[in-house]
Amino acid sequence: MTIFSDQLKVQLASIGVFDSGVGGLSVLKEIRDLLPAEKLVYVADSGFAPYGDKSNAYIIERCEYIVRFFLKQQVKAIVVACNTATSVAVDGLRAWCPVPIIAMEPAIKPAALHTKTGVVGVLATTQTIASANVNRLIAEHGKDIRVLLRACAGFVEQVEAGELHSLQTEQLVKHHLSPLLASGADTLVLGCTHYPFLRQILTQVAGENVNIIDPSAAIAKELKRRLTERNALNLHATNENEHFFTSGDCDVSRKIMTQLLGRDVAVSPLLSPPVNA
Ligand code: DGL
Repeated sequence: MTIFSDQLKVQLASIGVFDSGVGGLSVLKEIRDLLPAEKLVYVADSGFAPYGDKSNAYIIERCEYIVRFFLKQQVKAIVVACNTATSVAVDGLRAWCPVPIIAMEPAIKPAALHTKTGVVGVLATTQTIASANVNRLIAEHGKDIRVLLRACAGFVEQVEAGELHSLQTEQLVKHHLSPLLASGADTLVLGCTHYPFLRQILTQVAGENVNIIDPSAAIAKELKRRLTERNALNLHATNENEHFFTSGDCDVSRKIMTQLLGRDVAVSPLLSPPVNA
């Protein structure tokens, strides 16, 4: 009886999902589609974003704070919906966090299988591009192709500001994509969770023949696989199954999250100590 109740308690527990800001909502959307009954707690660390050009110590401190916040809420799993946080902090987090951590992986392997020109562009933040993780993926899957890494300065800020279709965003996208397209890239990997929100403009600039790969759906599937193997899937749908927190301004976050998700959401403050790093 106790074992049954304990397992049910796990199944009913929430899943924590976080990003440096609102970009991780691209992953949350996929999780929501695949696992409609799950309770999700989303943290946008917008008060401390962007992570992409911060020090490792700064990013690690923020990630540890957010993971502890989730653990206080007794989550059953945590999704690091941020490539930068994954690159810098996930190994350290996994060393002490008692629940499974599912993290991003730039889709270099599928891109290598898909490209016909043999040229793949990886769009990500400075930190992700410099990371050992990306270099390992290129060494493993990119030996027979050319992988062009592009740190897309400004993309995260445009998404955080809700500027998904402005002229300034279009110019920025052209600026970052032009050298990749000129080098023959026919496949682009979205290596930052903010970038799927720029998909329309990326497609417009790159053209319909360029394949754009977003790993978010694969992350949702991996989460489902990990919960299933632990018998931790929630099969009992409830109405109150999402909570959104931000370390930034709640009104601003609410507006942008509502825009990105296409539905109205309530946002609560994540109270954070200052970063020492
Ligand atoms: N969404 C984050 C990522 O996937 C953006 C990082 C940042 O804040 O610079 O890398």
